[in-house]
Amino acid sequence: MNLDRSSRDAGLLAGKVGVVTGAAQGLGEAICKLARGEGSKVVVADIADELGESVAGEIRSGGGDAIFVHTDVSAEADVEALVAATVDRFGRIDWLCNNAVGGAGGFGPLEAIDDDHWSRTVDVCMKGVFLGMKHAIPAMLDGGGGAVVNITTSGIFKGEAMLGAYVAAKGGVHALTMATASEYAARGIRVNSVAPAGMETRAIRRYFEKYPEFEEMTIATHAMRRLGRPEEVAEAVVWLASDRASFVTGTCLVCDGGNLVNSHLL
Ligand SMILES: NC(=O)c1ccc[n+]([C@@H]2O[C@H](COP(=O)([O-])OP(=O)(O)OC[C@H]3O[C@@H](n4cnc5c(N)ncnc54)[C@H](O)[C@@H]3O)[C@@H](O)[C@H]2O)c1
Repeated sequence: MNLDRSSRDAGLLAGKVGVVTGAAQGLGEAICKLARGEGSKVVVADIADELGESVAGEIRSGGGDAIFVHTDVSAEADVEALVAATVDRFGRIDWLCNNAVGGAGGFGPLEAIDDDHWSRTVDVCMKGVFLGMKHAIPAMLDGGGGAVVNITTSGIFKGEAMLGAYVAAKGGVHALTMATASEYAARGIRVNSVAPAGMETRAIRRYFEKYPEFEEMTIATHAMRRLGRPEEVAEAVVWLASDRASFVTGTCLVCDGGNLVNSHLL
């Protein structure tokens, strides 16, 4: 049994190459920056070119190694090109975090979800995860193994009103995570998910500006009575992506400030 932790100084992801989708801001940006701090080279993938270039640029100016690749995760040709660009630049892929989120609609009852809202949300949030794994896993297998971390939401475990398409897509990702973990475990690929709840991001701030009455209510749904910081969720992602999680596959790490176990009686 090797319990020597001296290699930790080099970083949890020392020498590894990772791809993060939806990485131009929010959680994706935090994952890239924390992973870089843990020794990883990172590929920042997003449709937001200016923000994505800026995240990769910041990492490089801090002494890290990063590139930005414009990628719409719902477009197979883009995802193939992302994997090719990563292998071309860094020679391998060790870990992938499918984090991108997007869709055509916001909040609303099921009967108001139109075809475009449903299809676009499922395409970005679920098909995007499928495509990411479909194209990155062969590159990981070429390198002898790897780890995938898919981002879902703790809402999939409790029913999330007014977000039908989004939670359905994320629930699909949860099931696909387990299926893919089972398929590839014997070949050295681990596949897990992280389920956050409310996080302090620009996106949630924009939402609270639009619906100020929801801010206090949202915070109260967390047993810790606060939102999470993106770097707190990034810690879970980085650990699952690292060899320190070597016997963990097919699981969902709920990282939600007690949103799932919250009781409104307290
Ligand atoms: N923020 C929260 O409170 C919260 C709660 C639970 C789960 N999550 C999950 O965490 C993850 C990150 O959320 P966030 O709040 O940081 O999001 P965000 O909105 O801040 O960032 C999402 C990024 O995805 C990119 N994106 C959108 N469509 C894309 C596409 N087709 N291809 C590639 N990139 C695309 C956007 O440009 C953006 O940079 C998501 O999977 C989200 O569902 C977030």
